[in-house]
Amino acid sequence: MASRKTIIAFDLYGTLLSTESIAGELAKLFGHDASKPLAALWRRYQLEYTWRINSMGVYRTFGEITRGALHHAAGELGLTVSDADADRLMEAYNALHVFPEIPAALKLVKQTADADAVIFSNGTRDMVAASVATSPDLKPYEGLFRGLVTVDGLGVFKPDRRTYDHLAQEAGKLGAPGNVWVVSANPFDAVGAEAAGLRAAWIDRAGKGWVDRLGDVIGDIRPTIVVDGVDKAVEEILRRSL
Ligand code: LAC
Repeated sequence: MASRKTIIAFDLYGTLLSTESIAGELAKLFGHDASKPLAALWRRYQLEYTWRINSMGVYRTFGEITRGALHHAAGELGLTVSDADADRLMEAYNALHVFPEIPAALKLVKQTADADAVIFSNGTRDMVAASVATSPDLKPYEGLFRGLVTVDGLGVFKPDRRTYDHLAQEAGKLGAPGNVWVVSANPFDAVGAEAAGLRAAWIDRAGKGWVDRLGDVIGDIRPTIVVDGVDKAVEEILRRSL
């Protein structure tokens, strides 16, 4: 995928695709009131499991982790998920909706000759490919992505340094990692990218500003760009890449 262009690597779950959009499916099974807290807790344990398993030096796929986290979140709320319902929800996970500004952001990437877009995700290649192909709003942009960069070949999750080195390598930018922008709404991903020498545009969806302090603890590491939407991140990256 070697390219002289700037590479914009979009995180998938939580950045392009809204993991909260699964709440509609959860509501069918558990009712409206339980659906939002369950979606949030499911996401929380999904991420927490990736960090825990990284620390343990063990690897299971993001799909397996996502399924385990679903049962954990449900259990904590006093709910049970049957295997059949878990299967259905995992299928629905492939059809998540995008955040509202994503079509505008991807149109901008499409129009420019200065940057190439890739997806950079914890998901396996199959899961990411299925998500892009099945998500009703992402499908029209399937051809836009020059690559799907996933971690399953490495057996570790973000923010392990190897995942960012792998992205730089796949992008043909090992010698110039600063030309690779990770666009992510996940603070741990933004700090991980910057710590590895890539640049990060963090999407501040809650509008609370950059309050994550791990980068300061490590030493002056923070996202280069902080904006409230992926469209603005792309605009800013293109402006800086000229
Ligand atoms: C991803 C996770 C962070 O898509 O949701 O990599």
